[in-house]
Amino acid sequence: MGLSMIALRSRRVPSSADPHPAIGKLAASSPTALPASSRFVQPHPKGYCPRIADRRAAPIPKAELHLHIEGTLEPELALEVADRNRLPLPYADAAELRARYRFHNLQSFLDVYFETMAVLRTEEDFADLASGYLNRARAQGVRHAEIFFDPQAHIERGVPMATVIDGLWSVLAASEERYGISTRLIMCFLRDRSPVSAMEALESALPYRDRIVAVGLDSAEVGHPPSEFVELFDRARREGFRCVAHAGEEGPPSYIWEALDLLRVARIDHGNRCLEDPALVARLRAERVPLTVCPLSNVRLGAVGRMADHPLPEMIDAGLLVTVNSDDPAYFGGYIDDNYRLIQRDLGIDDAQLLQLAGNSFRAAFLSDAERARYLKELEEYSPAGR
Ligand code: HPA
Ligand code: ZN
Repeated sequence: MGLSMIALRSRRVPSSADPHPAIGKLAASSPTALPASSRFVQPHPKGYCPRIADRRAAPIPKAELHLHIEGTLEPELALEVADRNRLPLPYADAAELRARYRFHNLQSFLDVYFETMAVLRTEEDFADLASGYLNRARAQGVRHAEIFFDPQAHIERGVPMATVIDGLWSVLAASEERYGISTRLIMCFLRDRSPVSAMEALESALPYRDRIVAVGLDSAEVGHPPSEFVELFDRARREGFRCVAHAGEEGPPSYIWEALDLLRVARIDHGNRCLEDPALVARLRAERVPLTVCPLSNVRLGAVGRMADHPLPEMIDAGLLVTVNSDDPAYFGGYIDDNYRLIQRDLGIDDAQLLQLAGNSFRAAFLSDAERARYLKELEEYSPAGR
């Protein structure tokens, strides 16, 4: 897509009837409602590398909106925690554990993901997980992170909700001061467990509602449509939570329709398969529904054969509000800026598009107007040569 297309799309100012108020408000007040290309694309001085994502010392400021904290459990930490909790994993070292990280679909990943996270037992374990992620995220230019966690997976192992949330919160409460990253928690329900178990998890999280911005839906998608969770999401909304859901990762476009119409989500996590349904693409575009796309995850789980075949450029060309995220970076071979770098290298995403994606990440985030404006200004002032 040419720059003029990006500029054209970024001009849209949603009306007050927009179904996603956070995004509508931002566009009305934000300087990024103006053409991104005119501000960001400067003539390159002699010797300057035009590919911004190569500039690892000064990564683009960005928000991460699709990140499972359990998916940041690096093999080294898993082994350390296992040892500490006297739950030894049957692997001699981190390299042997990492060698298991070869997947052919979502389920083959989920089997390893749930097995490895079983070492997490104490508040300290969840705190270490959160600080490990924030340290890496800071180095990758993350300024704001909306972090999924899977409480049912821990509760079914006898780990109380309080342990999970207090452990994460002991780090996240001060993430801005300590790491320069604002954070929000999103509690995900496991769609391959019963809606009753999900409702119990929701109820046990109510005392912590001030620490949780939204609920989500994850785990094995096919055969577990959003329509099974209508009552749960209705209750969550009544309790004041925003709603998101994984849909269209492996599941059909009908699951995306259901997530929009029945669960009334504010964002779709993944959403790649929307491209199979032109009417759905038109709906997502018209309503500016953000999609949290995860390119490396899609390659590692076999949704696309290789990065060069990823549909991201098609999604951008379709005028969708796309963001790029890392999903489960410890398992998929890269954190968020690695994803940014790979889409530049293999998909021909240019600097203006990359900056547009970073802008989208702040536009699609559950931020206040003031926070959003501050981050967008920081992005506007970003220079790849250094901050
Ligand atoms: N999809 C569904 N569930 C998940 C994922 C994912 O990519 N990562 C962790 N749980
Ligand atoms: Zn995910």
